[in-house]
Amino acid sequence: MLQQVNGQSSGSDAHGRESLREDLQAFLGGEAPLHQLDDLTKVNPVTLETVLRCLQARYTADTFYTRAGCTLVALNPFKPIPQLYSPEVMQEYHTAPQPQKLKPHIFTVGEQTYRNVKSLIEPVNQSIVVSGESGAGKTWTSRCLMKFYAVVAASPTSWESHKIAERIEQRILNSNPVMEAFGNACTLRNNNSSRFGKFIQLQLNRAQQMTGAAVQTYLLEKTRVACQASSERNFHIFYQICKGASADERLQWHLAEGAAFSWLPNPERTLEEDCFEVTREAMLHLGIDAPTQNNIFQCVASGL
Ligand SMILES: Nc1ncnc2c1ncn2[C@@H]1O[C@H](COP(=O)(O)OP(=O)(O)OP(=O)(O)O)[C@@H](O)[C@H]1O
Ligand SMILES: [Mg+2]
Repeated sequence: MLQQVNGQSSGSDAHGRESLREDLQAFLGGEAPLHQLDDLTKVNPVTLETVLRCLQARYTADTFYTRAGCTLVALNPFKPIPQLYSPEVMQEYHTAPQPQKLKPHIFTVGEQTYRNVKSLIEPVNQSIVVSGESGAGKTWTSRCLMKFYAVVAASPTSWESHKIAERIEQRILNSNPVMEAFGNACTLRNNNSSRFGKFIQLQLNRAQQMTGAAVQTYLLEKTRVACQASSERNFHIFYQICKGASADERLQWHLAEGAAFSWLPNPERTLEEDCFEVTREAMLHLGIDAPTQNNIFQCVASGL
């Protein structure tokens, strides 16, 4: 039965649907393998199905980055791929005459942004927005970008002129374990879920060398300290001090060995994020000395 929709007969809709189906078949059955489409703007017709089929084909072919015009779509490989982020790959993207001609990669975005600052006579701030659902890989991607800039925008003079001081790039990277210890928790979707948003600013001098960084955090899920969904956990730092404190510290912080705390559900789960030493080491590199750390951990332990 024909129906009138917005003054048009659905006969034309049916025709449109038929031709879309034909286009879809032609695209999906085309000669070029789907995983070779490195830009989603080349997908035609653009439908949820074609876009997802293309991304799926690339995922199956272990290709995790795809362009979508000036946006980069990153798929979470859910397995370590060290060769994708090696220093050699960073250099390849950093030194390429046209990095956008290389395979889509987070380093293309990093490098293009860096060149945008460099190429302008009056430097203009550049922003990279990393967005996605929980577990998509935002924190991972931000870390990759920070590592990339720590290499390409390293300040050659800082080490020589301040031998005792930590290199600025290392201090920037060390901010990650600290923020994640205090602001990340194991959830149903992600063992290392950030329970806060962050705005990271990397500051460059006129020679495009990194001179500092500022991190603004917002919307920390504070209620998690007292209340967690079943099968989820409290912030990593609580488990870290319970598992990693020395005998003396336990005494001082009133943390009996093997004690169970009602605010610390699922402590039997051992995650790689539970490493207290990594947090302590990173805090030290950031200039938080041992006595100050002790005060901080004593406050944290008192919350249990
Ligand atoms: N490119 C990648 N290569 C290897 N593993 C990855 C990659 N991206 C993400 N992962 C894995 O997926 C996990 C979840 O990623 P991540 O913590 O970055 O998600 P997220 O988007 O920050 O989530 P949330 O919003 O919950 O904080 C990581 O701990 C890591 O194991
Ligand atoms: Mg995160």
